[in-house]
Amino acid sequence: MQQAMMRAVQFDRYGPPEVLGVREAPRPVPKAGEVLVKVHAVSVNPVDSKIRSGSLRLLTGRRFPRSIGVDFAGEVVGLGPGVDEALAGKAVWGATKPLSIGVTAEYLAVDARWCGPAPSGVDSAGAAALPLVGISAVMALDAVAIESGMRLLVVGASGGTGNAVAQIAAAKGARVATVSSRANLDFCREYGAEEAYAYDTGDDLGGRRFDAIVDLVGTAVDRHRGLLRPDGRMATPAVKGMPAAYASALLPGPRVRVVQMRPGRAHLDRLAAHVERGELRPVIGRFYALDEIVEAHRSMDTGHSRGKRVILIAD
Ligand SMILES: NC(=O)c1ccc[n+]([C@@H]2O[C@H](COP(=O)([O-])OP(=O)(O)OC[C@H]3O[C@@H](n4cnc5c(N)ncnc54)[C@H](OP(=O)(O)O)[C@@H]3O)[C@@H](O)[C@H]2O)c1
Repeated sequence: MQQAMMRAVQFDRYGPPEVLGVREAPRPVPKAGEVLVKVHAVSVNPVDSKIRSGSLRLLTGRRFPRSIGVDFAGEVVGLGPGVDEALAGKAVWGATKPLSIGVTAEYLAVDARWCGPAPSGVDSAGAAALPLVGISAVMALDAVAIESGMRLLVVGASGGTGNAVAQIAAAKGARVATVSSRANLDFCREYGAEEAYAYDTGDDLGGRRFDAIVDLVGTAVDRHRGLLRPDGRMATPAVKGMPAAYASALLPGPRVRVVQMRPGRAHLDRLAAHVERGELRPVIGRFYALDEIVEAHRSMDTGHSRGKRVILIAD
């Protein structure tokens, strides 16, 4: 029997966005524990750029071709052995382990534990924009034990993850302050910030004190740690912040926790509840077609954003 084919984004070497191409590839067949998803949309995240450029090559190795992308939304069109039949035909969303498989393809065979029923009230594009940043946000807010009334500073709040952190924290009753570029101050206020500071106009946070900080940039972890109250808590998912975060365990004052996104149904279901309660809205900066993957990565590589970049793959 002739193998069914699909269109998929792949690359054969690490490098700039131009290494990515859309190719014909065999449609995957779900193995035990996997579902086959007809992918409707995926989103682009900074980790995709890191995988594509080779900056994580010690972890990603030299096996090519590789595919790219972590979070997705679509419809279950096949089940591997041992998968709960309740997922058959369901609209799902999910995120993979970032360094495992890539999701930017018409079909995806993926561990069923990394999928969950997509939340009601958002379309596929909105659902695809949320899993990676949303799970990371939930985990970061758990790490600082966010509670109503706490003063939280979100550094990098105009990015995908920072925006999700700000929205969920504000919904929990936290008093959110943000750091972004000046161009995104109003954007941050629109999504939960009571106070919005700009990093590019010399706004001085010096006199402020916070109960909790989530730092999505990571280039000034020590400076931001100095803004915590003595019993304050701080977390960073940013790779650049990890050395300072680990070093903080050896210094006087609060330790900075490192957050690594872990995919899974429990986190997805918590996220779906936030979406369905209207506490977390997907924010999409721009839509791209599959053939525009290079452009989407060029935009991601600028390091600036206002809302997620979403690749539309099927209706
Ligand atoms: N370890 C994990 O599991 C994990 C999970 C999620 C995210 N992350 C990491 O966290 C980082 C952010 O992710 P993201 O999804 O939010 O990325 P993103 O959507 O690309 O956003 C990055 C944001 O950083 C802001 N920024 C740049 N320089 C800044 C500065 N000096 N001060 C304040 N903001 C600044 C930009 O704001 P302007 O556009 O306003 O300049 C931009 O909005 C990335 O490095 C990502 O890899 C890691």
